[in-house]
Amino acid sequence: MRFSIAGGTRLSGTVRVSGAKNSVLKLMAMSLMANDQCVIRNVPRISDVETMKGVIEELGATVNWSGDTMMVTPPERLGTEAPEELVRGMRASIQVMGPLLAKVGEVHIVQPGGCSIGHRPIDFHLKGFRAMGAEVEERYGYVRARANRLKGATIYLDFPSVGATENLMAAGALAEGTTVICNAAREPEIVDQQNFLNLMGAKVRGAGTGQVIVEGVKELGGADYTVIPDRIEAGTMMVAAVITGGHVTVQDVEPEHLGFLIAKLREMGAGVEVSHNRIDCFADQPITGTTVRSMPYPGFATDLQPNIAALASTAVGCSVLIETIYSNRFHYLEEMRKMGAKVIIEQSTAVIKGVEKLTGASVTAPDLRGGAALVLCAMAADGNSIVDGVELIDRGYEEFERKLSGLGARITRIE
Ligand code: UD1
Repeated sequence: MRFSIAGGTRLSGTVRVSGAKNSVLKLMAMSLMANDQCVIRNVPRISDVETMKGVIEELGATVNWSGDTMMVTPPERLGTEAPEELVRGMRASIQVMGPLLAKVGEVHIVQPGGCSIGHRPIDFHLKGFRAMGAEVEERYGYVRARANRLKGATIYLDFPSVGATENLMAAGALAEGTTVICNAAREPEIVDQQNFLNLMGAKVRGAGTGQVIVEGVKELGGADYTVIPDRIEAGTMMVAAVITGGHVTVQDVEPEHLGFLIAKLREMGAGVEVSHNRIDCFADQPITGTTVRSMPYPGFATDLQPNIAALASTAVGCSVLIETIYSNRFHYLEEMRKMGAKVIIEQSTAVIKGVEKLTGASVTAPDLRGGAALVLCAMAADGNSIVDGVELIDRGYEEFERKLSGLGARITRIE
């Protein structure tokens, strides 16, 4: 599937942001631990959510998804074998490990491999489960973990990993005693998970700081919860406004989650006006180059790095992007070169020299966020572009082309 995009339109109007992909996937996994039905609201229609739905259904849950509301009812007895095909297709499937280990005492799952943005091992997750008393076997590319009942432990993460923090919070929720996660990730999605778990009856505190403390309880009930807005989708729409020289109101956002991007865009010369749940973005003067180093939250989000690269490609002067989270996140820059971007890549650093105008070209999305950045470039470029590999963009952006068309972009999907 591909997008055909005619560049050169200034985007204008209002766009509503959907629920956060990186939160909802985890809440769906956490629902497996409940004894009652969980209702999750503001669920985006994206293919990663379809995949996670498949994963938890295979494990026995009944899922009812209507509009943006999803109801998850766990079965009497959950399965322990995570479906291999789905896990291979989506790394976030490993987030069922903590819930299954805590609830059923066993999980068997294929080791997720590296992906298009670099190596992504799960050693921190496994180290944490082991510290909590689980027996973990890694053989022939699969992982089997078992524990009669997990025991609370103090776990030091070598890096503030989002997925490991979430998996260990889940594991700790039903463990015996207290689990302390030190050097925990501080992303807003971690806070969302804490709020969801606590509604289910868990005792979690500290999310949003570097130390999360989970006092284990015997069982968890259902919850009715609304997912936070997707800060990465919001960021993409903000950059779309600026890169096309337009003026867009991004509605239903949490500006606090976008503090770094807001500061960076202002630094680059963009206009950004913030009110409690909306952000107005516009370009009324030339955009200048910048330096961005991706970091764990509250640092600059690695998932927004490709968006800034898109903007930098037509900014005045040079920009330097330093990627510190992933080993290989610059494939999309090779594609941007086809549109005339001037890029030098040296290991984890990219230097981008802004050009006056990109030119339309035929490009391929190498990954989800890189794909979205190529769409941004195509909308700003002179002439027509084809962006191939739209399936990857569909993993994380709900109705991307409908939302962009609503702002005036000339973008159509070719099946
Ligand atoms: C999540 C997000 C992803 C985002 C990332 C960093 C989801 C579904 N995905 O991914 O969009 O880019 O956070 O903000 O929420 N690492 C290890 N060993 C481990 C775990 C991680 O070495 O056991 C490394 C990874 O290879 C990576 C870094 O730690 O280099 C960060 O990974 P992590 O924070 O775990 O990212 P994810 O949770 O996979």
